[in-house]
Amino acid sequence: MNKKTVKDIDLKDKKVLVRCDFNVPMDENRNITDNRRIVAALPTIKYLLEQNCKIVLCSHLGRPKGEFKPEFSLAPVAKELSKQLKTDVVMAKDVIGEDATKKANKLKNGEILLLENLRFHREETDNDPEFAKKLAEFGEVFVNDAFGTAHRAHASTEGVTKYLPAVSGFLIEKELTFLGNALENPKRPYVAILGGAKVSDKIGVIDSLLEKVDTLMIGGAMAYTFFKAQGYSVGDSLCEEDKCDLALELMAKAKEKGVKMVLPIDTKIGKEYKPDTESKTVAWTDIPDGWQGFDIGEKTIEMFRKELNGAKTIVWNGPLGLFEFDQFAVGTDAIAHKLANLNDAITIVGGGDSAAAVEKAGLADKISHVSTGGGASLEFLEGKKLPGIEALLDK
Ligand code: 3PG
Repeated sequence: MNKKTVKDIDLKDKKVLVRCDFNVPMDENRNITDNRRIVAALPTIKYLLEQNCKIVLCSHLGRPKGEFKPEFSLAPVAKELSKQLKTDVVMAKDVIGEDATKKANKLKNGEILLLENLRFHREETDNDPEFAKKLAEFGEVFVNDAFGTAHRAHASTEGVTKYLPAVSGFLIEKELTFLGNALENPKRPYVAILGGAKVSDKIGVIDSLLEKVDTLMIGGAMAYTFFKAQGYSVGDSLCEEDKCDLALELMAKAKEKGVKMVLPIDTKIGKEYKPDTESKTVAWTDIPDGWQGFDIGEKTIEMFRKELNGAKTIVWNGPLGLFEFDQFAVGTDAIAHKLANLNDAITIVGGGDSAAAVEKAGLADKISHVSTGGGASLEFLEGKKLPGIEALLDK
């Protein structure tokens, strides 16, 4: 990575402002249901503790749109951090207000303060310079470790770097190493698996990956647009009719580039969008009216497994079916298990739903890298520059 990290700057005894991505899912009682992003931030925080820093952490949570809303408070994150670090993490009642300022001024070396949700101020997403300047007053150095938010040019990711020396934390460094190698220097054969609902969400990444990979496998609801584009009926399946031409163009590009594009050959269909709906598996060309495709079928799973044998780099983004419903999680689960058992390959799972699926299957530890970025990892793989990373000091 050509950006400075916490290892490239003197942090001993300094006051440090750290941007994390603590945008974690919570249930209706505000219990954190997946603490992966918090755990991923720990190496940097522990390093700053070793450097005897005064640590001011900040993050967004959800999209409260510039208003204080208690259901978006970061208080549960402070609790989880305290538990993980086995040390007290002080929670501020505001972001740049009286309480945060008072608590920050009182902070001793080796102590940690977490500011309230940055998005309680609209100035955060507006990348307001005055707000960024106020945030910068919390530190002598700025550390960005929020990979999941690196694709946003916000006050706490981009604006603040105008007022403080800015370096990356270990999480951003790790993300860029894995995703960067997949982009620039992949071991071959290189296979990408893309799923998810819409072709339109993935055009950029398909287009970019077609320049790099040897094989591109497509699953998820996105596949039905490719079926329709080839003239077949998809029943009531999700399908972007207006993207059929694009699907054909992508198929043509794959051919031109010598990339093997692998589409499902069978699909598990259901009558209704509910967990226990009647279901059956049919060939991809035989989806009847009144039915919807919700998963890849057994033959496709077998075919995908075979394609993955011998692969040396695999990037997976997007679930292959409606994995929230057990009976349609079979394809996603099977591919997660296959990746987990490929000992000889670098396996990378993009954030968001595919990361959640791997986590749900208890296989995250067996994947080389599960990204903490949903949108950020997609944009990175598309070859876009991420403003939160561009703004950091060059090595
Ligand atoms: C994410 O969950 O992808 C990041 O935290 C960014 O959140 P946002 O899409 O609300 O900016």
